Amino acid sequence: MIDRIDQLRSEAVAAIAAAPSTAALEALRVRYLGRKAELPNLLRGVAELPPEVRGQVGKAANQARQALESLITQRGAELEVGELQERLAADRVDVTLPGSPPRPVGRHHLLTATRREIEDVFCGLGFRVVEGPEVETVYYNFDALNHDPAHPARARSDTFYVADDVVLRTHTSPMQVRAMEAQPPPIAIIVPGRTYRPDSDATHTPQFHQVEGLAVDEDITLADLKGTLLAFARSIFGEEREIRLRPHYFPFTEPSVEVDVSCFQCNGTGVLPDGARCNLCKGTAWIEILGSGMVDPNVFAHVRDYGYDPERIQGFAFGMGIERIAMLKHGVPDLRLFYDNDLRFLEQFG
Ligand code: DAH
Repeated sequence: MIDRIDQLRSEAVAAIAAAPSTAALEALRVRYLGRKAELPNLLRGVAELPPEVRGQVGKAANQARQALESLITQRGAELEVGELQERLAADRVDVTLPGSPPRPVGRHHLLTATRREIEDVFCGLGFRVVEGPEVETVYYNFDALNHDPAHPARARSDTFYVADDVVLRTHTSPMQVRAMEAQPPPIAIIVPGRTYRPDSDATHTPQFHQVEGLAVDEDITLADLKGTLLAFARSIFGEEREIRLRPHYFPFTEPSVEVDVSCFQCNGTGVLPDGARCNLCKGTAWIEILGSGMVDPNVFAHVRDYGYDPERIQGFAFGMGIERIAMLKHGVPDLRLFYDNDLRFLEQFG
């Protein structure tokens, strides 16, 4: 029995010395000193042994247990130091690093996202983005754009007047003349920005957003206008779209057209798959998206610098409402949703 105790003891001593971790050490403690282990069992049985061996065996077993306990404690301390060192090395925090950047909490408002999308399309076609004043002179807002002095848009009820000759711009078109006064032809610009009219209902707010476009060069024709707007319509509303130009009137373009895109809900048929009339285009297969036309020679005549000579150059212009494009594209039923700042609405986009 003494031999067995010695054997257990030397086996355990070797294992403890080689224990690779505190977890492995704890497993050895259970294996050699735990409640069901051989050595403690032996110790518990000492009382039943014949008196002549009892003392010897008891002593050997006790010494073995004490020796193992102190070895375990010792090895445990060693391992803990090593493991702590490893953890410290691995967890070391570099206090010179910048704090973790805050997670982005927001997203672009649907109108901002739509404006950027429109800008991207036209930048890809060679247009440049410029901006102009929101508080504008009557001259640039109306007169330079060939608006007759009696034009209804000039009425007090249709326009916010700041002074007799200063208005909150009613459209982004005044930048046409301002931009031409700033550089000789050729020019290809788009002008996103806020515009103002005293309307308020489900499709009108007193402040809204437009994107103006202007391209002037020698040899610009209505075909260039149509190609440009077709590319735009397909980028925004899908590659299968077609556009159509309808005759219209604007004071600053001649001829003027309104531009429709083939309905992207019923795919230009006016009818839904279940046979019902398409509610988006009201069964007409077309949706109006913007106003446009060839720049009226009278507008070129108002450009004070750089000879924009209507005998030599032509241009096309267009203007669209950003809200309208976003509403059409995303099925937004009420314009006022853009400005209510209800997160349940805003979080659906971007
Ligand atoms: N300025 C017009 C409006 O606000 C839109 C427009 C129509 C702009 C035709 C243009 C154009 O440049 O050619 O209703």
